[in-house]
Amino acid sequence: MMNIEQACEAFKTLLEEQAARIAAMSTEKTDFTTKKCVTIGVIDGDGIGPIITAQAYRVLNKLLADEIAAGSIVLKQINGLTIENRIACGKAIPDDVLAEIKSCDVLLKGPTTTPHGGTMESANVAMRRELDLYANCRPVCVPEKNIDWMFFRENTEGEYVLGSRGVELDGMAVDFKVTTDLGTKRIARAAFEYAKNNGKTHVSIVTKANIMKKTDGKFTALAHEVAKDYPGIEVEDYYIDIMTANLLKEPLREKFQVVLLPNLYGDIITDEAAQIQGGVGTAGSSNVGDKYAMFEAIHGSAPRMIERGMGDYANPASIIKAAAMLLRHICRPEAAARLEKAMDECTVEVRSDGTGATAAQYADALMQML
Ligand code: IPM
Ligand code: MG
Repeated sequence: MMNIEQACEAFKTLLEEQAARIAAMSTEKTDFTTKKCVTIGVIDGDGIGPIITAQAYRVLNKLLADEIAAGSIVLKQINGLTIENRIACGKAIPDDVLAEIKSCDVLLKGPTTTPHGGTMESANVAMRRELDLYANCRPVCVPEKNIDWMFFRENTEGEYVLGSRGVELDGMAVDFKVTTDLGTKRIARAAFEYAKNNGKTHVSIVTKANIMKKTDGKFTALAHEVAKDYPGIEVEDYYIDIMTANLLKEPLREKFQVVLLPNLYGDIITDEAAQIQGGVGTAGSSNVGDKYAMFEAIHGSAPRMIERGMGDYANPASIIKAAAMLLRHICRPEAAARLEKAMDECTVEVRSDGTGATAAQYADALMQML
């Protein structure tokens, strides 16, 4: 518990740290078209994480067998990003695990458990920050309903960057939300570049700028500034509340193509969008920075499934989809297409109630089709 003076001191430190973060933002880029050897790290995570990532590992190992043999791809299993180990080390990402992570170019990550309350930061949030993975791209596609959405969620700022650094005073608690110029412009640029390069003609900017006037106000204003460089693209502003309704509204929702949002709104709405696609277990997600990128399922570690002894029935489709996104990112489009085709055609179903195939049986079937 702090008094007001201590809280002001703490706030000063936070502002200084954020100013330092802005100053240190780098644009060093990894070019996968010329890189001789690409290292893919596969991180197991908690709960159902090790079960589903093991299947993704098997699939990648088979799909990339030639390149692995030739040494142009290294597939590396990274253990130890578990809640037990993190608590024992008192760190969101233990130092030795972080060093291993940073020795890779791209990562495929199983879900990690985030403790409620306390001060232990989420491993996800820490990794996004440590690797500066500022663009969280989440595709949602339901062809029979004319839905083809790509969400660009800002991934390193907003409500998340100081989410574990709020202050508690007598009778009140205060958290902080941070929006920076550089952080906003780079995610907006990523969204508009994606739109331009993929023939998309509509970008929605989604905030709550009527209430979060400073931070979301800045986000909206800067996103519009970036939009000026993309004259062929229609831009519309929505508030997050009505946007959550609009995603359920037919036929209006069919017009949405690229959706650009600050961190927390992006977190929430992408679960809704994934549910429209068939559930969070069906969605993959990329966390992309200039140097590193990390790919994951959008769901959590499902501790209740483990408690019920149903872990083997966790659906690995989400993380395998994320693996396909990873392959595209490292400029292996043929391998990605082979994997996506096999997934589209695979009729084996994994159901969390245990009435379908296990994760391993699904992967067996998929690997036969590759
Ligand atoms: C997500 C997850 C994470 C988030 C959690 C696990 C920290 O919900 O990737 O959407 O809130 O970003
Ligand atoms: Mg989420």
